[in-house]
Amino acid sequence: MTGAAIFGFPESAAGAARLADELGVPAREVLVHRFPDGESLVRVEPPARVAVLYRSLDHPNEKLVELLLAASALKDNGARRVILVAPYLAYMRQDMAFHAGEAVSQRVVGSLLSAHFDAVLAIDPHLHRIASLSEIMPGVETACVSAAPALSAALDWSANPLLVGPDEEARQWVEAIAAPLEFDVLVGRKRRDADRRVELDISGVEQAAGRRIVLVDDVISSGETMIAAARLLFDAGASEVEALATHCLAREDDLTRMRAAGICSIRSTDTVPGPTASVPIAQLVAGEIRRRGWLRKR
Ligand code: R5P
Repeated sequence: MTGAAIFGFPESAAGAARLADELGVPAREVLVHRFPDGESLVRVEPPARVAVLYRSLDHPNEKLVELLLAASALKDNGARRVILVAPYLAYMRQDMAFHAGEAVSQRVVGSLLSAHFDAVLAIDPHLHRIASLSEIMPGVETACVSAAPALSAALDWSANPLLVGPDEEARQWVEAIAAPLEFDVLVGRKRRDADRRVELDISGVEQAAGRRIVLVDDVISSGETMIAAARLLFDAGASEVEALATHCLAREDDLTRMRAAGICSIRSTDTVPGPTASVPIAQLVAGEIRRRGWLRKR
């Protein structure tokens, strides 16, 4: 049996292959058959002693069940350790019941994954009220990898950009990217009344006049946060606004609306495949897996 291998699903096979390349181990495919009634049959072959399942959990409702089936098949076929690399880990935003009667999705999904995986790695998971994934995945080795070094390397610093985080939650990324180079940053304050109704203010926004702006956030979902920020910045006289994010979940029509708002470039890491995914994260993930010795025999 192979020592270690990276297993990708059909839509994550390319990312899995890039990670396998970085780690110098084979890449394998998880075969998925979908029955006419919507059930999935999952097959993994050949097995490995340490199996890394690579799948981002955008569209999580469709993907989660197949992921758990694959983890179980790998264990049944002799894997001693099954590791999940979920570059985008969903359901992290609902980390408390904001209104009476709501499920705390983060806790539910955390305990589901901890029952099937020995270790879990995610890139910039949206952790707001907890410090580490271990708090929702007891007994599991967890790693949160920051995409900041990859995002920072993707910027053209020679153009002297002003970095803007649209809300307080984005502060950690915008500061991590700008701090080593001592670049200017602004951070906004956001109020969201509904999925697509966002209000922002950015104190110090007048500093945007005549500047090239890079908006930095962990997630672009509907794109409304970026659009509201771009409006404020253009009103303040910004000469150019681009958007850079760890994860881009936006649909094509939302990207079109962002472009129509004047955002000239939208880029993200390749945690979620799509037209904006131009910043590779395989090296960062491989570095973390190596550092933690996750592929070594135990
Ligand atoms: C939430 O606080 C996140 O950091 C993002 O700002 C948010 O998910 C973006 O969502 P949308 O693109 O729908 O405005």
